[in-house]
Amino acid sequence: MKIISSPLELKNYLKNYNCSIGFVPTMGALHEGHISLIKKAKEQNEVVVVSIFLNPTQFLKGEDLDKYPKKDEADKKICELSGVDILFFPQVSDMYGVDEVTLLAPKVRGYVLEGSSRPSHFNGVLTVVMKLLNIVNPTRAYFGKKDAQQLNLIFLMVKQLFMDVEIVPVDTVREKDALALSSRNVFLTEHQREEALKIPSSLRSATAMVTKGVLGYEEITSNMREILSPLEIFYVEILDREFNRLSKVEIGNTIILVEVKVGNTRLLDNIWL
Ligand code: PAJ
Repeated sequence: MKIISSPLELKNYLKNYNCSIGFVPTMGALHEGHISLIKKAKEQNEVVVVSIFLNPTQFLKGEDLDKYPKKDEADKKICELSGVDILFFPQVSDMYGVDEVTLLAPKVRGYVLEGSSRPSHFNGVLTVVMKLLNIVNPTRAYFGKKDAQQLNLIFLMVKQLFMDVEIVPVDTVREKDALALSSRNVFLTEHQREEALKIPSSLRSATAMVTKGVLGYEEITSNMREILSPLEIFYVEILDREFNRLSKVEIGNTIILVEVKVGNTRLLDNIWL
């Protein structure tokens, strides 16, 4: 596995490859969720590039940037064992200068849900993803459905800015007890981890209601809020795949999303129906 930290060196190096390139952007502290993105990229492309970059611009002041788990050596090993061809490992100064050009998230879809409690978060996400896609110029790029709003905004950016890359969504990987894998799960105490299981329980209960034919927004979200109580809820939403509010679940076109705070840790999850 080749490790490169300079954007221009990577750009030049990739010119040698006249084949399909699969790209998996990450912020490190890799887990099985990230590995499933890498596996899918390997299945579908001749060369796989992974980036590990803890992007400061998507963290708001006072957020957990300094505390974000860092596991550089373990991450390199995971990439090597997963058959990654090239690992892009830049420093902040490689990626950002002073007086930066910045992308702005769309005024509606970028400021609802996670964007409403973290304004400007998606400006940082879209800016860094744009930079990374321009550096790697991949055939396909892989993003988790777990971060459904991020995925939706990246689809929108690629479409609206006429970018030449296929965005591939990947299913959420869960622990045996159904908690969605997240780099932030390490912050949970044993008791908080138990509490966090209310998240997958609420989504399971929503699915069971839909299976029984209960499709209404009010019924489903109030049942979920009951299950999640007393956790601090940022949102419980039922949206279509374009991120418009649905008053009734439409099978094949629905995402039910939830974000809560457990202790000081934000956890989000969703289910696609
Ligand atoms: P990060 O949180 O490291 O996640 C990297 C990718 O892994 C994202 O596409 C995310 O949706 C996916 N992922 C995380 N947990 C997952 C799980 N349990 N199952 C499947 N996929 C999962 O998301 C980011 O980094 C950043 O915002 C980034 C896009 C890299 C821009 O900085």
